[in-house]
Amino acid sequence: MADLLVADALEKVYGEGDAATRALKGVSFTVAEGEFASIVGQSGSGKSTLLNLIGLLDTPTSGQVLFGGENTTALGRKGRSRVRNEGLGFVFQFHYLLPEFSVWENLTMPAQIAGRTLSAKERDRALETLALLGLEGLEKKNANQLSGGQKQRVAIGRALMNRPRLILADEPTGNLDTANTATVYELFRRINAEVGTTFLIVTHDRAVAQQTDRILEVRDGELVQDVRNDYV
Ligand SMILES: Nc1ncnc2c1ncn2[C@@H]1O[C@H](COP(=O)(O)OP(=O)(O)O)[C@@H](O)[C@H]1O
Ligand SMILES: [Mg+2]
Repeated sequence: MADLLVADALEKVYGEGDAATRALKGVSFTVAEGEFASIVGQSGSGKSTLLNLIGLLDTPTSGQVLFGGENTTALGRKGRSRVRNEGLGFVFQFHYLLPEFSVWENLTMPAQIAGRTLSAKERDRALETLALLGLEGLEKKNANQLSGGQKQRVAIGRALMNRPRLILADEPTGNLDTANTATVYELFRRINAEVGTTFLIVTHDRAVAQQTDRILEVRDGELVQDVRNDYV
């Protein structure tokens, strides 16, 4: 089977001249469909930069990103956003839900923004997503009435709505307590097993990384370790 993701010699330089920062110095790896992997490294090592390049939120200074066999680096802005919308889901440390909107509205935001009624397929998707995340009964609540853990679950649901092949999570539990952190990882695992979604999770928490199947370590802009984790 072809690799879902290929990161090929990714370099990223921010700024110019004396102020230039070489955030990534040639990072290469591949991810197969269905993997459950983490990216670890100290603060400032380049983890978010790497995730932003893979997520097509930013473009590399050199190197390329292939997604589903397609070379995204050759695409223009429009092509990249097509790949992003169809194939990728994002979960961040902060949930970025719209506080004055209900759980249901947050999940179905594209239709809300477009001011159109939901298609039957979108409705089913949203209901299925609520069930998958254990959020049934909360659909009418406003996001600002939810606990921190519930908010992050809705944010995960939103990332899952288009059933992306790959979910990229950047410190998704950085703002949560131990119990909610465990819940989020159980959910990621369940989605990985039941839906087949591939996960790439950035964390600086070793204990969290130990629960994934593969650990990639970034240090000072370089990939210094890539190990299968047998201790799950
Ligand atoms: N937009 C930016 N402009 C300039 N420098 C940046 C920018 N984003 C990140 N950096 C720098 O790049 C390096 C890697 O940052 P980052 O990828 O955010 O690391 P991490 O997520 O591992 O903490 C750091 O030195 C950081 O200061
Ligand atoms: Mg970061």
